[in-house]
Amino acid sequence: MADITLARATVADVAQIATVHHLTWQAEFAKMLPSEVVKKMSYDFCVSFWKEYFKKGGSGTETYVAKINHQVAGFVAIIKNTKHESEIDKIYVDPNYQGRGIGSALTTYVFKMLKEQGFEKAIVKVYIKNKKAQAFYEKLGGVLVKEADIVDYHSIIKVKVYEFAL
Ligand SMILES: CC(C)(COP(=O)(O)OP(=O)(O)OC[C@H]1O[C@@H](n2cnc3c(N)ncnc32)[C@H](O)[C@@H]1OP(=O)(O)O)[C@@H](O)C(=O)NCCC(=O)NCCS
Repeated sequence: MADITLARATVADVAQIATVHHLTWQAEFAKMLPSEVVKKMSYDFCVSFWKEYFKKGGSGTETYVAKINHQVAGFVAIIKNTKHESEIDKIYVDPNYQGRGIGSALTTYVFKMLKEQGFEKAIVKVYIKNKKAQAFYEKLGGVLVKEADIVDYHSIIKVKVYEFAL
């Protein structure tokens, strides 16, 4: 596979991030969320979401992209919850590129950066039905700390919370 380049996302990446966001939702979340919620995540909706995101400067999140041949193959959005705790808010890899180390490369990249900034831990909330993502976080050293109910897309959803020591 060609080299992966990792960088902070910019407004120039909107269309490609929206494509990955849309494709991943249709491929993965149809099994986990009500169909009306998945249907709403159209390509146009994702473009509007990411345009607004960059207009507002991320509103507390930072997004990083992994590119192959100048095309976005995956992205991760992080939140800085407190001075020492960060959170993976979203991590999506284009279904055509999954299983090739892109998710690991993105996570390792942001964890290193967060550690250098003084963060001690990172958390992530994963839908209880999302077994693939749970295997991914466990492989990266995440420790299951609790299960919880969260409100996401107007539904109560059960999640597992993983913690990473940075
Ligand atoms: C979860 C996700 C980000 C992983 O990205 P990826 O680039 O496919 O992952 P990697 O190739 O870096 O895999 C790293 C490790 O994760 C585990 N893993 C990845 N995909 C897996 C799968 N389908 N089944 C089991 N384990 C898996 C493996 O241990 C793998 O290591 P290995 O290749 O040495 O076996 C990606 O599958 C994705 O975008 N999923 C849909 C969106 C999503 O669920 N995001 C997380 C929301 S909390």
